[in-house]
Amino acid sequence: AQPQLLVGKTITITAGPTREALDPVRFISNHSSGKMGYALAQAALLLGAQVNLISGPVTITAPAGVNLIKIESAEQLLEQALIFAPHSDAFIGCAAVADYRAAAVAEQKMKKQGDELTVTLVKNPDVIAAVANLTDGRPYTVGFAAETQNVASYAKGKLTNKNLDMICANDVSQNGLGFNSDHNALTLFWHNEQKELTIDTKSALALSVMTELAKRL
Ligand code: C5P
Repeated sequence: AQPQLLVGKTITITAGPTREALDPVRFISNHSSGKMGYALAQAALLLGAQVNLISGPVTITAPAGVNLIKIESAEQLLEQALIFAPHSDAFIGCAAVADYRAAAVAEQKMKKQGDELTVTLVKNPDVIAAVANLTDGRPYTVGFAAETQNVASYAKGKLTNKNLDMICANDVSQNGLGFNSDHNALTLFWHNEQKELTIDTKSALALSVMTELAKRL
């Protein structure tokens, strides 16, 4: 049994990819498996928290006992995040939110055309930045940063620019780590502190992240 460090706390976690529709049958997405976010949800439950898990489409099963909110697009994710975040003690953004969506979603299936097709994309809202900038009920806000280079400096940049309290950075250029893998390695950054979590299963890392978070709530 785990020490019940999060009893009485509500944690909202975003997980998985988003899907940005192009037409009724097509979308833009990414390879996020949702494993890290789901592991965080499981860890928060084990420490006694109430957990809202706002999830994009994934193939894994949500831990029993979470409040699962299914979304597809970044805009749907934002809407749900803004509903749950103000009632949460902490908000963890683990979702791989698509940075862009189609400027216009075709009402009918797009027909095959010439050799080239141009789709105009527009920027999606930054969900975690919106949560971190709430003036009423702002939760302790934790981001993730997947980087292939300059991990520490990019992560610290996001901590500051997005107004986060904590960021968990991973180097996704390392083979077998991060995206889709069951393993990961993370460096946690706060504004005046950092902590290295070496390679481990996502469940073990998630428990360490939650334990660090619990100390700060
Ligand atoms: O800027 P970047 O996408 O690398 O930042 C990653 C962090 O920001 C993650 O916590 C991710 O969940 C969050 N994010 C978000 N909304 C976006 C893009 C990223 O919440 N549109």
